[in-house]
Amino acid sequence: MKSMLIGGIILIISLMAGTYFVAGDAFISDDYINTLTMVGAFSIIAITVFVVIKYVNQIKNDTASGELAEERWDGIGEYRNDVPMGWALAYIGTIIWAMWYLFIGYPTNTFSQIGQWNEETLEYNAKFEAKWKNPSHETLTAMGESLFLVQCAPCHGVDAEGIDGKAQDLTKRILKTSVIHVINNGANNFKTAFPGGMPPMMLTDAKEIDEVATYVAGGFKGEAPVAFGVCAGCHGMDGKGMEYVAPNIREYDTAIIKSVLTDGKKSNIGTMPSFKGRLNDTQEKALAAYIQSLGE
Ligand code: HEC
Ligand code: HEC
Repeated sequence: MKSMLIGGIILIISLMAGTYFVAGDAFISDDYINTLTMVGAFSIIAITVFVVIKYVNQIKNDTASGELAEERWDGIGEYRNDVPMGWALAYIGTIIWAMWYLFIGYPTNTFSQIGQWNEETLEYNAKFEAKWKNPSHETLTAMGESLFLVQCAPCHGVDAEGIDGKAQDLTKRILKTSVIHVINNGANNFKTAFPGGMPPMMLTDAKEIDEVATYVAGGFKGEAPVAFGVCAGCHGMDGKGMEYVAPNIREYDTAIIKSVLTDGKKSNIGTMPSFKGRLNDTQEKALAAYIQSLGE
């Protein structure tokens, strides 16, 4: 016992010395929290060593006492002890806590990454709306340009001319080949804004088709060909379209830009992806303002 105690004290002193050697600076600093931490560390060392000595001593010297249970397992007996109170309370407490955690704690308190993302997005969107409530035309156009360079330029090109026909040339409203394509095949891409679509084959005479296509793609210059009357029923004599009936085929107005961004478009040039849910109202208006500025 005596030698163990001496050994223990030597151990305590060497552990404390080691701690002081590694983190002794903390004593010198005038932050009392550091000092408290060091005192705590020393106490933990001392208490641990003494508790270990106590148990080692008990293992060495204790004699068995108490009533043995009847059963024997290969000659090894077991004492009939009552469950210690602390242990029993901890056991019941753990079950109660587990129930609470399973049915109340976890479901109501868990951190959700998606939840946080949604919350932050809503917050950000509200800020965005507040900041750009009434943007000037210049602001919208500038915002549209930066959006365009990031989202649209990969297909439409930085100059918006469509990278040699890979996407629509946005500096003009429409190509002659596209007008001919839509007259022959009809179109039903913009299901949200123009649910009726455009029926095919309203003109079949090649000369009439050519005249109408030249007129539309040429930007409505000069006298309208007679055959355009068929088209005017929906698109209007000026080609500027009608809400719910037909889009503007004369210039890029906000409605046609919103339609192509909402539904995407698949036609003779290729496929324009839908940007639904990826841009807000202000951003769509900004893109429209920028695309309109290209034709000016
Ligand atoms: C993946 C390539 C791609 C991206 C990205 C893309 N577009 Fe397009 N876009 C196309 C293609 C291809 C067409 C031609 C569709 C057709 O008429 O066949 C097109 C057509 C259009 C049209 C003409 C629609 C019509 O009816 O005449 C507009 C306007 C347009 N895009 C705007 C945009 C805007 C604005 C963006 C960025 C937010 C964008 N595009 C991003 C490929 C793309
Ligand atoms: C019944 C109404 C209606 C008539 C008549 C009509 N259109 Fe359309 N047109 C539409 C609708 C709706 C769209 C939008 C199609 C879509 O959703 O993709 C459209 C789209 C277009 C487009 C745009 C296609 C594109 O690629 O961006 C052109 C060009 C066009 N029409 C030309 C004509 C011409 C030329 C005529 C006359 C021969 C005509 N339309 C007659 C309803 C009509």
